[in-house]
Amino acid sequence: MKRYISRITNWPTPFPFRNLNFFMVDKERNFGSKPTKEPINNEEGNQISDMLIDGFGRKHTYLRISLTERCNLRCQYCMPAEGVDLTPSPKLLTHNEILRLANLFVTSGVDKIRLTGGEPTVRKDIHDICSNLSSLKGLKTLAVTTNGIILAKKLPMLKQCGLTNLNISLDTLVPSKFEFMTRRKGHHKVIESINAAIDLGYNPVKVNCVVMRGFNDDEICDFVNLTVDKPINVRFIEFMPFDGNVWNVKKLIPYSEMLDTVAKKFPTLKRLCDHPTETAKNFQIDGHVGTVSFVTSMTEHFCAGCNRLRLLADGNLKVCLFGPSEVSLRDPLRSGAGDEELREIIGAAVKRKKASHAGMFDIAKTANRPMIHIGG
Ligand SMILES: C[S@@+](CC[C@H](N)C(=O)[O-])C[C@H]1O[C@@H](n2cnc3c(N)ncnc32)[C@H](O)[C@@H]1O
Ligand code: SF4
Repeated sequence: MKRYISRITNWPTPFPFRNLNFFMVDKERNFGSKPTKEPINNEEGNQISDMLIDGFGRKHTYLRISLTERCNLRCQYCMPAEGVDLTPSPKLLTHNEILRLANLFVTSGVDKIRLTGGEPTVRKDIHDICSNLSSLKGLKTLAVTTNGIILAKKLPMLKQCGLTNLNISLDTLVPSKFEFMTRRKGHHKVIESINAAIDLGYNPVKVNCVVMRGFNDDEICDFVNLTVDKPINVRFIEFMPFDGNVWNVKKLIPYSEMLDTVAKKFPTLKRLCDHPTETAKNFQIDGHVGTVSFVTSMTEHFCAGCNRLRLLADGNLKVCLFGPSEVSLRDPLRSGAGDEELREIIGAAVKRKKASHAGMFDIAKTANRPMIHIGG
């Protein structure tokens, strides 16, 4: 704790709180039509349209949808100290537009959707969105990534609405450190949500932990201890550079170092077999109910197996988390584009996707959005 206090003064200071307003949503539903391009099969035997296949043969069957740019926390590694410019509500995708686009992706071969943000649970219509998305034929996984602050109460209903998978972010087990990093209180609420998720039968409950030198690197083994008797998958994430998050390579704890720390304390740590599109390197420790994973985007990227696309809250499509290029789907949608035209726009963006990201030092120098706009 002493070490933490001595180092945290190097971190940026908090910025003033802003009032939160929620969006209005369009209740009308329009699910669009079926794909017309000749589909091919993916490894699991599902049909996948050419729109989702890039120049390197990667099949993008996983769509992450940011439901909002707003958040009830202000994590220093995600949100710039001065806050972010929020897109005016009329320029954000409505409920109806999200469903129309999601349907287009799912009928083209996407079988996994993750809702993110900002904080997705602050969106009042998240239950309706889950209900509608989970009823899309062909969708196998509907996941959410959340900070867990207001999740516990909402979770039983979200489960009923078809939410199948859950990632809850928690970077520290020490409440005062949580308050420092997120610039808000609420540590106990996140713990409550993790317990609620376990009680509701989510297995595993994934816990995302961004590891930063001098902040929480001394807690790695404490997090691993959570996996002893709980169905938790602790995911240690390398600190990534985004606009305004004051990234510094000295704060990054590389995968090799994290792995060393865990292996020394838990000598029975064993690597599991990972799916080719898996972003995490997964491990099991003898006798532990849960598992441990490392998301090594910076020191050992996994771009070759990337199957992700990102739809941002303002309707822009991003084909790479770290690439600045984006294309608006909202504008053509609002100008009356049909599904075929939208598919062409999406397909062209997917085909322009680069083989891999530029590397952490170049990423740190390149203008991108703040993480809170992208959603991870
Ligand atoms: C942007 S958040 C959005 C969803 C939700 N508000 C939450 O915190 O889980 C998605 C994930 O990105 C992670 N994240 C944010 N900024 C990051 C950074 N600079 N490096 C690595 N992970 C980051 C968060 O810890 C979280 O697990
Ligand atoms: S990481 Fe999640 S909880 Fe933290 S500021 Fe970003 S969006 Fe909000």
